[in-house]
Amino acid sequence: MGKRRCAAVALATIMVVMVELATLTVATSRRSMLTNGLGMTPPMGWNSWNHFGCNIDEKTIRETADALVSTGLSKLGYEYVNIDDCWAEFSRDDKGNLVPKKSAFPSGIKALADYVHGKGLKLGIYSDAGYFTCTRKMPGSLGHEEQDAKTFASWGIDYLKYDNCYNGGLKPTVRYPVMSRALMKAGRPIFFSLCEWGDMHPATWGAPVGNSWRTTNDIADYWQSMISRADQNEAYAEYARPGGWNDPDMLEVGNGRMTQDEYIVHFSLWAISKAPLLLGCDIRNMTKETMAIITNKEVIAVNQDPYGFQAKKVRMQGDLEIWAARLSGYRIAVILLNRASFRYRITASWDDIELDPETVVEARDLWEHETLRTHFVGNLTATLAPHSCKFYVLKPIA
Ligand code: GLA
Repeated sequence: MGKRRCAAVALATIMVVMVELATLTVATSRRSMLTNGLGMTPPMGWNSWNHFGCNIDEKTIRETADALVSTGLSKLGYEYVNIDDCWAEFSRDDKGNLVPKKSAFPSGIKALADYVHGKGLKLGIYSDAGYFTCTRKMPGSLGHEEQDAKTFASWGIDYLKYDNCYNGGLKPTVRYPVMSRALMKAGRPIFFSLCEWGDMHPATWGAPVGNSWRTTNDIADYWQSMISRADQNEAYAEYARPGGWNDPDMLEVGNGRMTQDEYIVHFSLWAISKAPLLLGCDIRNMTKETMAIITNKEVIAVNQDPYGFQAKKVRMQGDLEIWAARLSGYRIAVILLNRASFRYRITASWDDIELDPETVVEARDLWEHETLRTHFVGNLTATLAPHSCKFYVLKPIA
């Protein structure tokens, strides 16, 4: 080899090593913000806000933990018991610590965490990347991140939802990473749920910062609110992955203002979208119909599939839509959705769901709990009532 060639090879090698080092530095500095190993599948559990708002106390939280176990929900994976806004006194103590509200949580949060852990469950809490939380009834953590993260860790907290109100006009991309680092330093793995409502497209920067990020404003218990949140969340499907999930907000199933079919659509879309499955009803008092939805093991299994691919709308025709996501085991999850107020026939074609047109497919109907006798080639058609869906898992057999 000539001297020149030798020098060129050496230079090239040095450059490759430098690029690798730079990549490694970026990767490690990115990773070092939040490496808690949590959220390998979307989190499942309950949150107080949608049903109770500020009307919470330790008795309600304990009874909810009891109900998660006695109903069998905890066995299905619902493990987080998450306290939302209004759990703390308006002022910090003289050392600057957050103080649980005496009138509602007289035994303190540590005792509650011990109780919840004793049932094999996990406890979540709520704060805000601002000066107050959204109700303005308690302080936020802006400027107190390390102190609050330490407090949460010392109480045995497992999940932090971190809201976006009263933020002094500072960008979320500045405020949220400060809490990520504080949680890492606090020495307890705490699932970090960013709740900046999609303001700055958190899907694009959330992965090294948190385990999930809200992509929407608050959900309410009616069809249009629910379905529009599913739509907004779908735009970010590419970003979801084990350890970091898009969050279209918590479930309203069981709160009473949607029909059974609409709640089935709600639960199905959240499941196929790999959204957190955080129940938002009073699980101490649920109807059979509510239980039938939230205990559907086959739908939950789609949500918890190890691949973690979030569904996309692969086809739209007016009010008719096909949503699809790849699953492990060469299977595909498909939702046929009728958003109209009329009955409609709707067809899912193989070329929309990335199947060869010749493929013979076995279809499992996840709400009827039956494997259809017919095998399908090329497409599958169903007739749907207004505001309803069909949810299938398709398995190629030839
Ligand atoms: C914001 C959040 C909600 C809830 C309330 C509590 O609106 O987006 O999910 O936490 O604050 O005040």
